[in-house]
Amino acid sequence: MAIHIHPSILSADFVNFERDFLTVSSADAIHVDVMDGHFVPNLTFGLPMVKRMAEVSPLPLDVHLMIENADDHAVAYALAGATSVTFHVEASTNPISLSSRIRESGASSGIALRPGTDLDVVLDSLDSYDMVLIMTVEPGFGGQRFMDEMMPKVAAARAEVSRLGLSTVIQVDGGIDENTIITAAKAGANNFVSGSAVFSKSDRAQEINMLRNLASEFYCA
Ligand code: DX5
Ligand code: ZN
Repeated sequence: MAIHIHPSILSADFVNFERDFLTVSSADAIHVDVMDGHFVPNLTFGLPMVKRMAEVSPLPLDVHLMIENADDHAVAYALAGATSVTFHVEASTNPISLSSRIRESGASSGIALRPGTDLDVVLDSLDSYDMVLIMTVEPGFGGQRFMDEMMPKVAAARAEVSRLGLSTVIQVDGGIDENTIITAAKAGANNFVSGSAVFSKSDRAQEINMLRNLASEFYCA
């Protein structure tokens, strides 16, 4: 299973995204946090910004939608050039159908779970998504503490993906650094979003490399 590192631009310089993209170009994709000020108590940017990012980014865009009413808005992000569009199960009335529409629009689809949402809500439909995002912080802000207590959820998702022989990616997002990435990789995550840990370093390429090596060493299927 491939190990991927996705720096989150929530911790980047918001007036210098293009420049900051280049500093993380050794990563596997750029994680783009879209927040609407309703689903989460923070507001970032929307569709026009993501469209422009897709034009200048050296890497694929992994868009994480933290917005209400994902059913009405998610497909537009796929059409705007996102390689992957992840929406929250709590923000969709028909997640399986939305996932199909995202896929038909040319992107891969991800389903995200808040820390308080049980894995059971997606366990029977894992094959409907390309990625499951298990939040390891309450969504909304960078720089929060990693929630170890989410590891049983990661392990249960990995066990079911393996049992069914699926290739569903298991992503963790929130508080990932050189210590917590080991915990998450051991639990079975293979895709790691990291905002503050990457962007706080002067040598971001070295940090990305370090995170990737640690995850590869400790990943446990
Ligand atoms: C939080 C966002 C994360 C955030 C992670 O709601 O979804 O992507 O940027 O930042 P760190 O790695 O600093 O916790
Ligand atoms: Zn995110």
